[in-house]
Amino acid sequence: MAFLSATLDRVKPSPTIAVTNKARELKAAGRDVIGLGAGEPDFDTHQHIKDAAIAAINAGQTKYTAVDGIPELKQAICAKFKRDNGLDYTPAQVSVGTGGKQILYNALMATLNPGDEVVIPAPYWVSYPDMVKLAGGEPVVAAATLENAFKLTPEQLEAAITPKTKWLIFNSPSNPTGAGYSREELKALTDVLMRHPHVWVMTDDMYEHLAYDGFEFCTPAEVEPGLFDRTLTCNGVSKAYAMTGWRIGYAAGPEPLIAAMRKIQSQSTSNPCSISQWAAVEALNGPHDFIAANNEAFKRRRDLVIDALSQIDGITCPVPEGAFYVYPSIAGLIGKTTAAGTVITDDEAFATALLEEADVAVVFGAAFGLSPNFRISYATSDEALTEACRRIHDFCAKLR
Ligand SMILES: Cc1ncc(COP(=O)(O)O)c(C=O)c1O
Repeated sequence: MAFLSATLDRVKPSPTIAVTNKARELKAAGRDVIGLGAGEPDFDTHQHIKDAAIAAINAGQTKYTAVDGIPELKQAICAKFKRDNGLDYTPAQVSVGTGGKQILYNALMATLNPGDEVVIPAPYWVSYPDMVKLAGGEPVVAAATLENAFKLTPEQLEAAITPKTKWLIFNSPSNPTGAGYSREELKALTDVLMRHPHVWVMTDDMYEHLAYDGFEFCTPAEVEPGLFDRTLTCNGVSKAYAMTGWRIGYAAGPEPLIAAMRKIQSQSTSNPCSISQWAAVEALNGPHDFIAANNEAFKRRRDLVIDALSQIDGITCPVPEGAFYVYPSIAGLIGKTTAAGTVITDDEAFATALLEEADVAVVFGAAFGLSPNFRISYATSDEALTEACRRIHDFCAKLR
């Protein structure tokens, strides 16, 4: 439609949201679909956080707030960075937005000029390349491999950097693979960045607290203090605190960048929801013991899925360190034909046939920039996962 902005030609809608909607539609039409597409915990927000929100409503905290966050939340965020990451930020170096998504978007909008490049390791979270394009920049995808457990090597990072590179977007543990970088692995990447002083790091630490088997989370500014002045450390309450609907994300970084992000937010959405901000204060300052209990369930489900997938011929999957995703390769299934006669030409054909013939909704790998794979979100009940794995097994067993 000629009326619409040409910018829209550069971006596509979120494929993960599309899969979730398709699964929802089929369910509404009476099909017994198991959805493994959604990237959100199935746990409810903890009661003490809900109580803080209710108290905020009753106390009249229902008005506009400062554009990028109330002082109490900025203080709680500074305390969190000190406690968990050993990072010293002041409230003036903190920005709060409507979810991690808005924070990343603000940062890209505030910094990218036409032709600026952003290095994005693949497999990547679906929104990174499109956000970069919306902001007028050029995504430069550096594809990690299954052999390296979906982690970018220093050589790959070095090769992706040009004089036009403005940012590296770094995400560990990762959506969609669950891969988490060890301190040594991350140090090898920050060493490369130290040789390129014009490149900044936008680190998306959204899955920081979701890590298993003793994996120790680390973040670039902590691993390499020399990068502190060119790092935007992004995080949020959505995943660890089961607060996806509350829409609170935050970041800390150099003050001029934070001020620029505030300017964008002031002319778009203004402050994030006042009530959610008070809930986030309680999430960050309050008890954290429920996270360990949630993680026990996530680890059990990860193992359940990995175990089931390892018994399917043609599928390989490394054991991820964190988040709540696995990213199996279906290289061994390409070219086969399903029971209904569909040829598995690529991972999109696989995911479509799996939904249509076996009632299991997953997201195809091309959406995340690395094929042939698919993503399972295991943030759902053990029963649903067991049944979904049985259906995937049966579906694959019938391939010819
Ligand atoms: C890697 C990653 N970053 C950011 C986000 C956005 O989080 P929020 O819901 O807080 O906007 C997500 C959500 O799926 C994610 O997986």
